[in-house]
Amino acid sequence: MKEEIEKLLAQVNDLKCKTAKDVEEARVNLLGKKGEITKLFEEFRGYAPEMKKEFGRKLNELKQAATAKIEELRSQTVSDASPAGKADDLSMPGTPYALGSRHPVSIVRQEIVDIFRKFGYDVAEGPEIEDDYHVFEALNFPPNHPARDMQDTFFVSAGHPNPILLRTHTSSVQVRTMENMKLPIRVICPGRVFRNEAISARAHCIFHQCEGLYIDEHVTFADLKQAILLFAREMFGPDTAIRMRPSYFPFTEPSSEVDVSCNICHGKGCNICKGTGWLEILGCGMVDPNVLEASGIDSKKYSGFAFGMGLERIAMLKWQVNDLRHYFENDFRFLSEFSTATEV
Ligand code: DAH
Repeated sequence: MKEEIEKLLAQVNDLKCKTAKDVEEARVNLLGKKGEITKLFEEFRGYAPEMKKEFGRKLNELKQAATAKIEELRSQTVSDASPAGKADDLSMPGTPYALGSRHPVSIVRQEIVDIFRKFGYDVAEGPEIEDDYHVFEALNFPPNHPARDMQDTFFVSAGHPNPILLRTHTSSVQVRTMENMKLPIRVICPGRVFRNEAISARAHCIFHQCEGLYIDEHVTFADLKQAILLFAREMFGPDTAIRMRPSYFPFTEPSSEVDVSCNICHGKGCNICKGTGWLEILGCGMVDPNVLEASGIDSKKYSGFAFGMGLERIAMLKWQVNDLRHYFENDFRFLSEFSTATEV
């Protein structure tokens, strides 16, 4: 044992390696599972106690010396990838990575958020898996009301008084905001919504909306009109005009649909606006007093407006992408079209 230890110690002290691979080889030969030093330790285990006393210390010293030597050699050698031990040339240009691009829906959402942030709105979010109360009931859709048919619903669990479902519109976030936030309220709620529709160029079962809600004392339809006009001009350009058409939604009274002047033909008529000079962008109205009261807001003291728009629809108008399916197929050729559409 004594000679073995001395022989190995001499070997360790003289050890020289050129490459990291050589160091690793030496480590395995000495300290690996079947290495020389490991073998000595195995032999040592079977010794009588007085022999252990004699060799134990020496054996440990050998192991420490070998470990230290390997560490030292490791720090001196460079990886095999750089020939003749030369360090890498750090002035070489790096490998370029292809830069990703933002999804058009995400670009539009960010633009909307930025515009309304300037007007003092906060962003509110709510769950995609909702209950009937927040999607319909509290928004003045009574059970069996025909307006529920306007939105084909995916049910998660039907058949009890307040079924769980995938939200069909972001108007549910209005309700949650009214329940939880102190007045006055000024929020926009972008998010994903779901409807049981067959997928085609003009319809999809998943899409995105952005809801807006403003509640305070003395809010009037004039405030709504001005907010929408300012938004339209920021979004589609300073010359944009808006037109409001009477409409119906259960949760607003009066209700309106809003068109913007076609930014392609500037009102002359083209195939995007189907010759009308106008493009529909959103639905809106004054929040129905029933909706305020359902969330515990005094409708005698407070009034408000709400609006909701489809993000894919806005993106379609912005970039004339007229097939909804493009937004969901993640075809790299389509997505990379938007790499310069906005700064990242
Ligand atoms: N929730 C409506 C829809 O999905 C859109 C909408 C219309 C939202 C009018 C509103 C509103 O807040 O006031 O069709």
